[in-house]
Amino acid sequence: MIVLGIETTCDETAAAVVERDEDGRGRILSNIVLSQVKEHAAFGGVVPEIAARAHVEALDHVIGRAMREAGKHFYGLDGIAAAAGPGLIGGVIVGLTTAKAIALVNRKPLIAVNHLEAHALTARLTDATPFPYCLFLASGGHTQILAVRGVGDYVRLGTTVDDAIGEAFDKTAKLLGLGYPGGPLVEQEATKGNAARFALPRPMMGRSDADFSFSGLKTALRLEAERIAPLTNQDVADLCASFQQAVAEVVADRLRAGLRIFRTRYGAPTALVAAGGVAANQTIRRVLQHLATEAGTALVAPPAELCTDNGAMIAWAGAERLALGLTDSLDAAPRARWPLDEIAAAQALRKTAAFK
Ligand code: KG4
Ligand code: ZN
Repeated sequence: MIVLGIETTCDETAAAVVERDEDGRGRILSNIVLSQVKEHAAFGGVVPEIAARAHVEALDHVIGRAMREAGKHFYGLDGIAAAAGPGLIGGVIVGLTTAKAIALVNRKPLIAVNHLEAHALTARLTDATPFPYCLFLASGGHTQILAVRGVGDYVRLGTTVDDAIGEAFDKTAKLLGLGYPGGPLVEQEATKGNAARFALPRPMMGRSDADFSFSGLKTALRLEAERIAPLTNQDVADLCASFQQAVAEVVADRLRAGLRIFRTRYGAPTALVAAGGVAANQTIRRVLQHLATEAGTALVAPPAELCTDNGAMIAWAGAERLALGLTDSLDAAPRARWPLDEIAAAQALRKTAAFK
């Protein structure tokens, strides 16, 4: 089964061709990612209108490259998948409409993929991880602990009540004048800093639920920075190190709670899986490794280029759904908001309808 995947929900224009064989093993035939970082850098964050226009300009090109590198023609595909949300609606419309056009002209099935579901299933592409596993999704827009029990069967065990974890890194970088995107820059500064210098709060720590909060930490960091301003290079490095340390400790505590809830409800997970751009952070990866060992399970952390937004994860999620006959009609709607829990509900409805 060979599927083209298109990703345009944020600031990456991406397309990939992925193969899924009968026993569920995956192979990436091509994976093209065009980052828009340059277009948005001057604004310190993603500007939705600029993103949508950049997707329009680049997408044909990116898809063409993905097809050429895979050595495939549209008629040789088994399905066309696109991220139909959640994300910036202008970009989602560009990707989904393009996928519909290719599917219509070539008479191929369309799969409207949830972007979060694609992050959630990536571990099965890279490591053939069996269900059920515990997923920590940590990106610029999302911070979630999920029980991944099957394709389309996701239960949210914890989430952030305010900022996403990557957003906290990005805002910290912006506050300290480091640039955009902030995560990698904060990590780099932190290597030169003293994590014990600032006593920043560890929000939500010790609670029995598995939720996160980052806005208090961000405010505390801003107050410290204002208190000691003007900042020297060492101050910036120390602030970054202290911030990263606080985030890492919060992640350890919240994920430990999440794993406890997982085990109580579903038994032992087959793995702790990391996804999203923040999973590229080495300090956070170390925390995840420690937690997995402590929980007696394996850590599956896909390579950084498959943790951040890409087309291969969309193609793969499309292939997994296609294998189960879960295709979509050409009027599938683009969605700015699309919580993962809704997929299970929609699938249950479909099943009921099919039995009638
Ligand atoms: O998954 P992703 O590429 O895009 C979505 O948000 O969907 O994640 C991007 C986020 C950004 O907030 C970025 O600052 C953060 O991931 N990030 C990192 C690192 N690399 C990327 N955060 C901390 N440390 C990193 N090394
Ligand atoms: Zn993402």
